Amino acid sequence: MTTLREYLDKTDCKDDLKDLIELIAIQAVPIRDAFIYNQSYAGTENSSGDKQAALDVWSDEHIVNVLLKSNLVSQIASEERDDIVKNPNAKAGYAVVMDPLDGSSLIQVNLCVGTIVGIYDNGDALSCGNQMRAAMYMLYGPMTVLTLTVGSGVYIFALKDGVYTMLEENVKMPQGKLYGSGGLKKDWIPEHEKFIDEIEKEGGKLRYSGSFVADFHQILKYGGIYCYPKTKDNATGKLRLVFEANPIGFIAAQAGGEITDGVNNLLDVKPQKPHHKTPIYVGSKNMTEKIIRICKE
Ligand code: AHG
Ligand code: MN
Ligand code: MN
Repeated sequence: MTTLREYLDKTDCKDDLKDLIELIAIQAVPIRDAFIYNQSYAGTENSSGDKQAALDVWSDEHIVNVLLKSNLVSQIASEERDDIVKNPNAKAGYAVVMDPLDGSSLIQVNLCVGTIVGIYDNGDALSCGNQMRAAMYMLYGPMTVLTLTVGSGVYIFALKDGVYTMLEENVKMPQGKLYGSGGLKKDWIPEHEKFIDEIEKEGGKLRYSGSFVADFHQILKYGGIYCYPKTKDNATGKLRLVFEANPIGFIAAQAGGEITDGVNNLLDVKPQKPHHKTPIYVGSKNMTEKIIRICKE
């Protein structure tokens, strides 16, 4: 059984990056422990206008404190903060982007949620996704699972007794027929309606939980598409380029999939601000190519 560290030792990651990845991954333990005491909403909103769950706030503060203490990180952009946290005195200059708790409306119903993280080695949290050095997410499901890429394929690890061991190596996303879409159907734009219509006519099967990270994990394993489109009343969509689209998109691309807004590969889009929002289509290429074709027509 290969541990996370043994795997990292075989990659081209510098030791401080290995330390940073391990440090973030192991925060799954305290975050999981905090679920039981943080079941309610916090009564506040983040910059994206989302209601903050108590666990959103707790996870954000916890991870930011751990990262600052590590001295490995010079910038942190978090979904739960307005501004980038800066630590100019850090001994290593990694920039971390994160969604501390994705899918937080599902905390109270005990469905699968997770933590999404991207790491840049250029010290700039507002870099394009294609410059990412590593991306990962921890999923708090029946098992605690880490999905990781350091730019050489996607690897999945499971946590037991404080140690991550490899569950699957070099994961490739198959072509597939699962689909899930956010946004109210009455507000969908014609392109999106046509896309979903084509998928359904071809025998697509609906899977949508309300947790991007969990829904994406299913797409990674079984193939298909997760979408949160722009709508008639919201041209930017709901999800965020920096904290959600780029880390997940980087993992998707490493597994042979793709992320697009229907026109642009999102990994090529320069974030304009931390809470830059974007429509998202992420999944198997048979699906992303379909929405790109429909948007061109
Ligand atoms: P977060 O919990 O980080 O705010 O993200 C919620 C996101 C995403 O995880 C999910 O796919 C989507 O919002 C669900 O939105 P709807 O409830 O509008 O479907
Ligand atoms: Mn999220
Ligand atoms: Mn979140």
